[in-house]
Amino acid sequence: MWFKNAIVYSLDVETFADGNGDGIGDFQGLLERLDYLEGLGITCLWLQPFFPSPNRDDGYDVMDYYGVDPRLGTLGEFAELSHQLGQRGIRLMIDLVANHTSDQHPWFQEGSRNPQSRYRDYYIWSERKPKDAEEGMAFPGVQESTWTWNEAAGAFYFHRFYKHQPDLNIGNPEVRTEILRIMGYWAALGVSGFRIDAAPFLVEFSGAKDAHREPDYEFFRQMHRYLSWRRGDGVLLGEANVPLDQLDRYFGDGDRLHLLFNFLVNQPLFLALARQEAAPLVHCLKRLGRIPQMCQWAHFLRGHDELDLGQLTEADRQEVFAAFGPDPDMQLYGRGIRRRLAPMFGGDLRRVEMAHSLIFSLPGTQVIRYGDEIGMGDDLSLEERNSVRTPMQWTPGPTGGFSSAAPSELIRPVIQSDRYRPDRVNVCDQLGDPGSLLSRMQRLIALRRSCPEVGFGETVLVATDRPAVFAHMCRWKGHAVLALHNLAERPMTARIEPEILGGRRPVPLAADRTYPAAEQEFELEPFGYRWLRLV
Ligand code: NOJ
Ligand code: CA
Repeated sequence: MWFKNAIVYSLDVETFADGNGDGIGDFQGLLERLDYLEGLGITCLWLQPFFPSPNRDDGYDVMDYYGVDPRLGTLGEFAELSHQLGQRGIRLMIDLVANHTSDQHPWFQEGSRNPQSRYRDYYIWSERKPKDAEEGMAFPGVQESTWTWNEAAGAFYFHRFYKHQPDLNIGNPEVRTEILRIMGYWAALGVSGFRIDAAPFLVEFSGAKDAHREPDYEFFRQMHRYLSWRRGDGVLLGEANVPLDQLDRYFGDGDRLHLLFNFLVNQPLFLALARQEAAPLVHCLKRLGRIPQMCQWAHFLRGHDELDLGQLTEADRQEVFAAFGPDPDMQLYGRGIRRRLAPMFGGDLRRVEMAHSLIFSLPGTQVIRYGDEIGMGDDLSLEERNSVRTPMQWTPGPTGGFSSAAPSELIRPVIQSDRYRPDRVNVCDQLGDPGSLLSRMQRLIALRRSCPEVGFGETVLVATDRPAVFAHMCRWKGHAVLALHNLAERPMTARIEPEILGGRRPVPLAADRTYPAAEQEFELEPFGYRWLRLV
């Protein structure tokens, strides 16, 4: 059950650290940074796709599921990473991108050229362009269709994402076997978790001849069972931004996906942060309900994509846009924000820290993204989601210690803005400063690891007299932690009814600063927070 209380750190090998000086991050560079990750205190590392790929969707267009992109290193280095993480007690999770392949994958190449090939039916074809070809696009505004003509095949193929990412045909049993085999392979190399990319699309039959069939959620159970036999600690983490009433399709009875990213909390959370009012978050946590005991939520603030606000009402979404991404150029696909956390919060690191503390206190496992722990900025001159995928900033200087290559040689430019360039934001300076965001994040991670109540226990929402303060308790086996978060830019003193504490005394565990002891009236700085254990 390690995944009930994990701290997952996500990174892309390509932009984390360049070990051989060619300007591209690689496994060698990552191997040299494991002390950093261990020092941060994470318990699981999630690597974004590192497989051979034409790299037209940042590696989410896979050409070979069994290899390592030569630009990033070798399979031998991957195995070394897996070993070294194991030595440090850090688990390894990777992306399983099985809804689609790259159009350069040999399956697609062979299948499109040769109608007799067994790979033809690995994909979804149509001789005529279906009527709904302009619907259901994953990247509206950028993508033009979900069906594209293939000259070699003399037919259209279906693609939920970019046109160079043909969807695999999940209705073909051989495709399913391939997917399980890929999992088995990486599990044998020490991987204990898979992030299931585009989980809802993976199991649907859209585009196929039997398009109206119900999606086959049972496939998640097959994957679960298969992985469990291979690795006792193996878990599946689904990327499924779906409404509340569909969750049981993904969790099953605890026999399908172990974890789901909690998009349902993420979106109201940003509304609450924008309004500086706890209500939207409280409301959504009340609706969330229980999930099977063998399952867990994965809470996050920002990922490597846009901040997707697609499930908010139009008015609420506009409110979040106005607060955190007012320029059209900061928005993407009509539904999201393509900025990093620190710039969204106007560079106010107190707010970045409080937001992390808040998700760390929510019932679930926590996922953080490289760079957010030091308050990295974004580069809106880069296309689409690349704005938030710039190289990690290790030291001052033009390449931020990411690479010894010239700045013009880097895979992506290092942030150059006055406020966020490496001279201002880097690991090295922050490590030595106990007041830095990085040091504070280290302490928050240690705090979260010392509070299993959060991941195992039940959450009780606590009423206060301050709408800006989010207060709740996590209880487990007679232990309880109380957390208060001030979402407002003004100081607050929040009052809690004494009976909530059940005669116990709140003892400070951590906070944004030292506060005087309190039992009922809790002072909080602007964007302040406090964690207390009840004894
Ligand atoms: C979701 C990933 O997070 C995103 O980056 C990618 O573009 C799509 N899936 C397609 O794989
Ligand atoms: Ca390199």
